[in-house]
This record gives sequence, C-alpha cells and structure tokens, in this order.
Amino acid sequence: MKILITGGAGFIGSNVADGLLEKKHEVAIVDDLSNGKKENIPEEAGFYRCDIRSKKLYSIFKAEKPDVVIHNAAQLSVRVSVEDPLMDADINVIGGLNVIQACHTYNVKKIIFASSGGTVYGEQKYFPADEEHPTRPISPYGVAKLTTENYLYYFYKTYGLNYISLRYGNIYGPRQDPYGEAGVVAIFSSKIIKGENPTINGDGLQTRDYVYVRDVVDVNIRAMESDFTGSMNVGTEKETTVMELFKILREVSGESDVEEVHGPSREGEQRRSQLSYGLAKKILGWQPRMSLGEGLKITYNWFKNQ
Ligand SMILES: NC(=O)c1ccc[n+]([C@@H]2O[C@H](COP(=O)([O-])OP(=O)(O)OC[C@H]3O[C@@H](n4cnc5c(N)ncnc54)[C@H](O)[C@@H]3O)[C@@H](O)[C@H]2O)c1
Repeated sequence: MKILITGGAGFIGSNVADGLLEKKHEVAIVDDLSNGKKENIPEEAGFYRCDIRSKKLYSIFKAEKPDVVIHNAAQLSVRVSVEDPLMDADINVIGGLNVIQACHTYNVKKIIFASSGGTVYGEQKYFPADEEHPTRPISPYGVAKLTTENYLYYFYKTYGLNYISLRYGNIYGPRQDPYGEAGVVAIFSSKIIKGENPTINGDGLQTRDYVYVRDVVDVNIRAMESDFTGSMNVGTEKETTVMELFKILREVSGESDVEEVHGPSREGEQRRSQLSYGLAKKILGWQPRMSLGEGLKITYNWFKNQ
C-alpha cells in the first residue's frame, strides 16, 4: 500500500514510517520541518516539505495517490495552545481539515488520526477512561483534537471516508524532541544527561498513561489493516505520577545526586489521565507490550548515545 504520513519527520511519524517500510509498504512524508528533523526521514521514503495548511498539499496527493493517510502533523504543546489558541486551531483544526479535504478529493481509503486520549476527555469522571467517557477537554489543544475527530465523523457519514482516531496517552521513546514543551521523558532524560536538575511542574503528583512508541507503531499498522471506523484509546490502563517517572529516570541514569526541583503548575494541564485499551484489544488484537521500566531504560540510553 502507499501511505502518506503528515508529520513524518517528527517523533511518532518517523517511527511509524520505519515500521511501515519494514512491512514493505511505500511511504511518502509531508512535513514543514517546524519541529521534525530531516535526519528522522527514512531514505526510502518520499519527502515533501510542505505546511499542511497549504494548497500545495493537493498537488502532492494528486502525485502520490495514497491509499492511507496517517495524520500526525500538529502543534503539540498544551501550554502553547493555552497561550495562543488561534495559532493552535490554525494548525490543528484548519490544517487537519485541509488534510481531510485532500483525502476526500483524492479518494483516500482511510485516515488514521493522531488524537489525544490525555486531553479529549478532560478531568476524568472514572478510571481508566474508555471511549464512552464524556469528552470535556480543558485545553485548546484538546478542543482542537476533538474538533478534528468530529470533522472525521462528518466526512465518514457524508462521504464514506473511513477513519480511525487513535487517542494516544503520553507517548515516549527514541527521537522525541527533548527541547520542546511536551514529552516529559525526553525533557527529563536530556536534562539528567547534561547534569542539570529537571523541573517538575507543580507537586508532580499529576498522572499520565505512558505508552512506548514501538507499541504505537504496532497499533498504527493494525489500524491500517482494520475495517473499524471511529475513535480508539491507545493506553496501558496504568497511571504514573511525574514524581514516579522522575525517580525511575534518576535510578536508570545512575545519577543519584540529581535533585528534585519543583516549578509552577501549568494551566490547561489535567490532573490525572488513565486510558483503557479494551476496544483496541477487541478490535485490533492490540495491547501494550513494553513495561514502563524497560521502555524508560531504552529511551534514556538512546538519548545518552546521541
Ligand atoms: N507525543 C505524544 O505524547 C502525543 C500524545 C498524543 C497525541 N500526539 C499527537 O501525535 C502527533 C505526533 O506527535 P509527535 O510527538 O511525534 O510530535 P513531533 O513534533 O515530533 O511531530 C509532529 C511533526 O509535525 C510537523 N508539523 C508541525 N506543524 C506542521 C504543519 N503546519 N505542516 C506540516 N508539518 C507540521 C513537525 O515538523 C513535526 O515533524 C501529533 O499530532 C500530536 O498531537 C502526541
């Protein structure tokens, strides 16, 4: 199959590109390199430097004729979305809509969308959240992800454009941007490696559901091959506090003198997040394979070797 990946020079997109190429699929990547890196792009993949909001996207779709589109390109910081919701919506809603419209125009069979289970539900009423949990995002980023899901549903109902919206927990692993606003594992790892103390936002008791990137590659491949349409959580059903994460990384690093430093908590950040994976298991036969301890060890050592 021919697969076009938006945001394919980024962390998740480039790992998914590698996984698809291993399976002998053809891959084309669209990325404006605003956050992604050229060296993440596999040699065998076609590459177009292009903003997803641009009309140029249509000529790329016309030339590539993808069977499946994996839409990853996004502004991915919750904090930035709080500071500048218009900019966030411009990339994440209007850009996303442009991708969906191009899929419709060029008869793409399926879109797989990188949504966010950590933000679309808002503060959870029960744990873990399944896909029936009310969606009440408390950040512009979460609102934009949910809005894109609603557009996907609209295009499916009206034009039969198939989609799976993967509601990711906190994804971590090799190639995550350590200098960005998101990605606590990458940020903490690179700080510890530089001999600095990472800053824990607030009391550090906020929880997230951490999923290793290789498990995300696996779920993307399974989603591509499935007939299911709709939204699906990608989580581990485990909650980990930032404090726990900090302590595991400190232990993995062997740098016992790294100090626990706290900064202010951040607006728009949820207190707790934990996602069920029952639907993904039932429909795709997917479940997370990597334990947090092992995944953090691999990730820390990867950053250390960079
Ligand atoms: N990393 C996580 O924990 C996580 C969790 C939930 C959802 N997601 C979603 O997964 C997707 C991938 O995230 P990631 O962690 O790999 O981030 P990333 O920043 O590494 O990848 C995003 C890519 O999109 C590109 N991009 C940004 N704006 C663009 C634009 N206007 N036009 C074209 N390309 C553009 C960037 O250059 C980058 O390569 C995003 O949609 C993100 O919201 C990530």
